[in-house]
Amino acid sequence: MVLDQPLRSFFMQLAKSKPLNKAAKKWGLKFGARQFVAGQTLEEAMATVIDLNNKGLVCTLDHLGEFVTEEQEALDSTEACLDVLRAINETGADCNLSVKLTQLGLDIDESFCLKNMKRIVQTARSFGIFVRIDMEDYAHCEQTLRILEKLRNEYDGVGTVIQAYLHRAEEDVRSLKGVPLRLVKGAYKESAEVALQEKALIDENYFNIIRLHLDNGSYTAIASHDHHIIEKVKTYAAENRIPKSQFEFQMLYGFRETLQKELLEQGYKVRLYVPFGTDWFGYFMRRLAERPQNIAFALRGFFSK
Ligand code: FDA
Repeated sequence: MVLDQPLRSFFMQLAKSKPLNKAAKKWGLKFGARQFVAGQTLEEAMATVIDLNNKGLVCTLDHLGEFVTEEQEALDSTEACLDVLRAINETGADCNLSVKLTQLGLDIDESFCLKNMKRIVQTARSFGIFVRIDMEDYAHCEQTLRILEKLRNEYDGVGTVIQAYLHRAEEDVRSLKGVPLRLVKGAYKESAEVALQEKALIDENYFNIIRLHLDNGSYTAIASHDHHIIEKVKTYAAENRIPKSQFEFQMLYGFRETLQKELLEQGYKVRLYVPFGTDWFGYFMRRLAERPQNIAFALRGFFSK
């Protein structure tokens, strides 16, 4: 679609708008966001997780949050993550936790963020729940890997995400042998200095790092809606006798339900990334930017209000 690029930039700009993100917290879920966000409260999100579990899907919960610049906001986000862990433990849901370090104060101070993460990781360890640190933009990559290393000294149930578009991706995957990684193509706009720019090259490197981590014997989460990649992984694993227990497919809540079902029927593990909370606007705008076809949902939602 010729309009794809301008539309992508438009939605990325909206995602970054502080006033809109702030205002949207008071609107409730609008414009069809409910398709991709599992509610505003933890109770709603847990009900969704249980429902997905009953369908055979496992989950990771993400408490949404944008633009955290005040210590109190980071402390509130930390509490929200602890509440998620307690709810998973109490309900016995098959679910883990995904976190973003900027939400936990990374832009305020790295050691403050580490302290918040340590509280989360200690609670997760006491419940035996895995914690995934999402990877944000390149500016936070080094800090994220540094914090990961410190946390893994205390609990090996912590992992992160490596983005295939980064030139450093292969080296990072090699040095993180044995660490459970979620591998993705990469969602942020990065310069040619640090990241591949062409889709074909990103796809090639994506498959390359997936193969590398699988060949290393490490647990690998392939987080993609791209059926071409998913097919290649299935074939590669079968040909190289990599057991289905060594990897899982991950998708975002609200995406490609037929494909999820097919994978489940074929005996693969499928985990859904389930976001929730009042701070939904930026996440929703990024999903529209990624795939302008999703705008149809948004327009339907807009006109039905
Ligand atoms: P891509 O968008 O490249 O699509 C490839 C092809 O797949 C399309 O051309 C189309 O044919 C098909 N396709 C894709 N979506 C479809 C749909 N909805 N319906 C039908 N066909 C479709 N990023 C990041 O930087 N840090 C992170 O921590 C994470 N975490 C994360 C977790 C999970 C669970 C997922 C799924 C993704 C992320 N990402 C991420 C985002 C990731 O980096 C990437 O931006 C998006 O997943 C989009 O890339 P895809 O690999 O899904 O396919």
